[in-house]
Amino acid sequence: MTKPILPGEVAAAVVDPVAYGTWDGLHQQLAWARANAPLAVAENPDHDPFWLVTRHADVMAIGRDPQRFANAVRPTVLTNRDGEALARAATPGNDGHLIRSLVQMDAPDHMKYRLLTQSWFMPKNLKQVEDRIRQIARETVDKLLATGGECDFARDVAAHYPLHVVMDILGVPPEDEPRMLMLTQQLFGSTDPDLNRSREAITSAEQAIAMLHYVIADFENYFRELTADRRANPRQDIATVIANATIDGGQIPDRELAGYYMIIATAGHDTTSASTAGAIMELAKNPALFERFRAADSDKAGLIEEAIRWTTPVQHFMRTARADVEIGGQQIREGDWLMLNYVSANRDEAVFGDAFAFDPDRAKNQQIAFGFGAHVCLGQHLARMEMRIMMEELLPRLKKLELAGEPARVESVFVGGLKRLPIRFEAA
Ligand code: HEM
Repeated sequence: MTKPILPGEVAAAVVDPVAYGTWDGLHQQLAWARANAPLAVAENPDHDPFWLVTRHADVMAIGRDPQRFANAVRPTVLTNRDGEALARAATPGNDGHLIRSLVQMDAPDHMKYRLLTQSWFMPKNLKQVEDRIRQIARETVDKLLATGGECDFARDVAAHYPLHVVMDILGVPPEDEPRMLMLTQQLFGSTDPDLNRSREAITSAEQAIAMLHYVIADFENYFRELTADRRANPRQDIATVIANATIDGGQIPDRELAGYYMIIATAGHDTTSASTAGAIMELAKNPALFERFRAADSDKAGLIEEAIRWTTPVQHFMRTARADVEIGGQQIREGDWLMLNYVSANRDEAVFGDAFAFDPDRAKNQQIAFGFGAHVCLGQHLARMEMRIMMEELLPRLKKLELAGEPARVESVFVGGLKRLPIRFEAA
């Protein structure tokens, strides 16, 4: 069976940060792929070829089969050829993972590490932190209202709230949050000249790796001190759980320890802030929807689920085939690299009626923004809870909400969403 090859413009769009920033054109390319070549190879000059997986059903099938579709073998986030070679040269055992967190692990390590904190992130346990999160949400809303009627919701509000929550839960004190925010944006938004460390366009893989090394070293130094402190003075936070956990009877090795903190510290805020800002953008555009959801007793669940589908903050993850396997009618070979494109899967017309409409009343919203299978987002219940609490605290305190300018999206192939959302509002 010969491999289907994607047209050059589709292949180019899915690796282009600017396409994710402009968004509409990217959706046209992805819709074409879903209809004509849902599982086909993207060939680009700077990247190794990879299968672009655009259908919801295929993303699910791959997620549910971690034995054959692995995370540890090759980069889990799209990396160009030079970048992967440099990362391999710069990592222990040439494994190419600058960070070794849950995301870069396969069985048996993955589940051992995941189980250390999994119960902490379950809804039952999260009830214990609900009051604290509500307090953070109220303080955030107070600050928003104090801006006097106009602000950039993405920058001034959404960027801070999930960060406060995740740092509070992790055990990072408020005075260190700006450093964490900057480092996360540098880690994830490193292709966006507005967000990366040098504030310049990154033009070479060497530059990108050098910048990431700085960012990771900063994180590691910080968490080394936190670990020492929590081993000496345990508290009720996740840092204490991680610092004192044992794996196979010993302490967690330094690299995995830093990776664990980093994934919790970073995975939870740009993502949740993107979907929170996405919800506010749609409410600001649609007065009837805003009126409905600002009623204190309105059920916010549908709004939240749809905002997560609509924004799809994590735009892709990569997998590598460990064996020959047939999927979606295509023959995948051992060693092949695959891009699970969540942006596409969340607009799949076969699953979502009127996929390009924002509809909080979808009967059964099967959004796949949190992934699927063994690696499904550890923080998904926390993310939903944070968004619900923010909507409950914010919307009833507003009388009017509208856009005050053009929103802008992050230029990144990995974690995306709004970097600018100018709004105008009146307090209730
Ligand atoms: C709307 C917000 C969020 C979105 C869209 C999101 C999305 C994702 C996705 C797509 C994955 C990979 C799933 C896969 O490979 O199948 C993931 C993994 C993960 N997420 Fe989230 N996430 C969000 C919020 C959070 C929060 C609040 C936390 C916790 C602080 C968190 C922690 C994690 C962790 C630790 C993993 C790695 C799990 C593993 O590999 O076993 N995420 N997330």
